[in-house]
Amino acid sequence: MSVEDAPIGVFDSGVGGLTVAREIMRQMPDENIVYFGDTARVPYGNKSKTTILRFSRQIVSFLRTKQVKAIVIACNTASAHALDIIEKEQDIPVIGVIRAGARTAAAATENGRIGIIATRGTIDSGVYEEVLRHIDPGFQIFGKACPLFVPLVEEGLTHDFITEEIARRYVKDLQYKGIDTMILGCTHYPLLRSLLKKVMGDDVTLVNPAYETAVELLELLEQKGMRRKRQPGGPPAEYRFYVSDLAAQFQEFAGSILPYDVAETQQIDIESYGQETERGEK
Ligand code: DGL
Repeated sequence: MSVEDAPIGVFDSGVGGLTVAREIMRQMPDENIVYFGDTARVPYGNKSKTTILRFSRQIVSFLRTKQVKAIVIACNTASAHALDIIEKEQDIPVIGVIRAGARTAAAATENGRIGIIATRGTIDSGVYEEVLRHIDPGFQIFGKACPLFVPLVEEGLTHDFITEEIARRYVKDLQYKGIDTMILGCTHYPLLRSLLKKVMGDDVTLVNPAYETAVELLELLEQKGMRRKRQPGGPPAEYRFYVSDLAAQFQEFAGSILPYDVAETQQIDIESYGQETERGEK
């Protein structure tokens, strides 16, 4: 297989990273994708850095068995805790979602007051602040952990009044701080975009890091001469989905996020990767 035809590896703690995969599919419809959702060990948002790094290494090790040409860590919590280390360990490009989100927010803000909503792990890591302050030390940055959003999205309550009420409570502090830009710093939150828009009003720009991550990936693949360009009459892009548990449930959710039906999802034993001796799936 030529490097151009090799797939892009995308991973997340579960279904949320499909919002990033969806952007990659939109912006680069010719690229092959292998997606892994760690449905057995989700949520990542309240786990330690050591644990998330171990999980991420196992997943990267699995994706490398699929000959991926690049890896996208499509999970904010894993990007916050593991990207710096993983990208040094790998000899293929690895990108996360945080730098792209921070850059977009920095370009969008006019008053320099930026809010971040994310999991507890991402907020406590301080990584968004670090990247934003590196861009402009004068930014005023306010973070808010919103741990209830992930289960609400997974329950399909994206337009429910309960979710709206919880959102109002979560973002109240950020509204008092006068932010004009808010980063949706968790893969599930773009699915709450219209509800959050209603709660925050038109004066606050909502930043979806998924979009910019795909832009960054496209530029990177171009630069490295790794873009797949489908030949006339050539095979269309192929998408393969793997999970660590509950494949049927994943498939159903994936069908509601992606613009087509996900025909097959394979379950693998992720704990057996990242070790020399065992392989869960050949
Ligand atoms: N994918 C995670 C993130 O973007 C959210 C879900 C979880 O906590 O695992 O931070």
